[in-house]
Amino acid sequence: MTRKQLIAGNWKMNGSLAANQQLLDEVLAGMQTAAPRCDVAVCVPAPYLAQVQAYQDRSRDASGRARLDLGAQDVSMHEAGAYTGEVSANMLRDFGVRYAIAGHSERRQYQGETDVHVALKVKRALAAGITPIVCVGETLREREEGMTEFIVKRQLSAVIHLNGHCISEIVVAYEPVWAIGTGKTATPAEAQAVHAVLRAQLKAATEHGERIPILYGGSMNAANAAELLAQPDIDGGLIGGASLKAPDFLKIIASAA
Ligand code: G3P
Repeated sequence: MTRKQLIAGNWKMNGSLAANQQLLDEVLAGMQTAAPRCDVAVCVPAPYLAQVQAYQDRSRDASGRARLDLGAQDVSMHEAGAYTGEVSANMLRDFGVRYAIAGHSERRQYQGETDVHVALKVKRALAAGITPIVCVGETLREREEGMTEFIVKRQLSAVIHLNGHCISEIVVAYEPVWAIGTGKTATPAEAQAVHAVLRAQLKAATEHGERIPILYGGSMNAANAAELLAQPDIDGGLIGGASLKAPDFLKIIASAA
């Protein structure tokens, strides 16, 4: 029995948009002259940037002006190399990505990301000219044990320690883990209290601390956005569920305007 063969090229986290496009062109040209046998399939598992490209055209108006910025849900803590499945900050920049989330609680929980990993991701993003959205937040148990301030300050201090004065270019997102996807939103007062702690920490770390945006995330929705965004140190939202419903997401945007 002859099984179909598959030749898959795993580029891992190597190259750039231009270099990999040229590589692909060279492979395709070679396949024109020496086509593989019909029982041989060839594939190139590209970095997950096709999704970005799919949105890129839609997010620009007829003149090519961006109507919204593109972001990434993660960024590699490595610059380049044999890190299969990862996407580097430089690759994201090649695709016009402006923002990258770093340290989302779901990645800390399921992928074992540590404060140091997150600090390195921030470093890579900043070096590529991408704005990192640095997520910090406590679990329900940590809040119940009175550890909220300790946890969020520990998480942010790792980023400050590694990135020094560059942190003036970051965005912070306070996402209480117990509020994510649960419908149990922090009250405006609860959220503002933690935002004020983060604001103080940022002001102690850089002269620009006052202007670093601190977003709230965790069951923000069309009904509660305005009250949350009215808080002095809540500068926006990192929205999960409500961003999947255009009317709700648009109401939240309008609340921020
Ligand atoms: O990153 C945003 C997300 O964690 C918040 O999710 O569904 O509670 O808005 P959600």
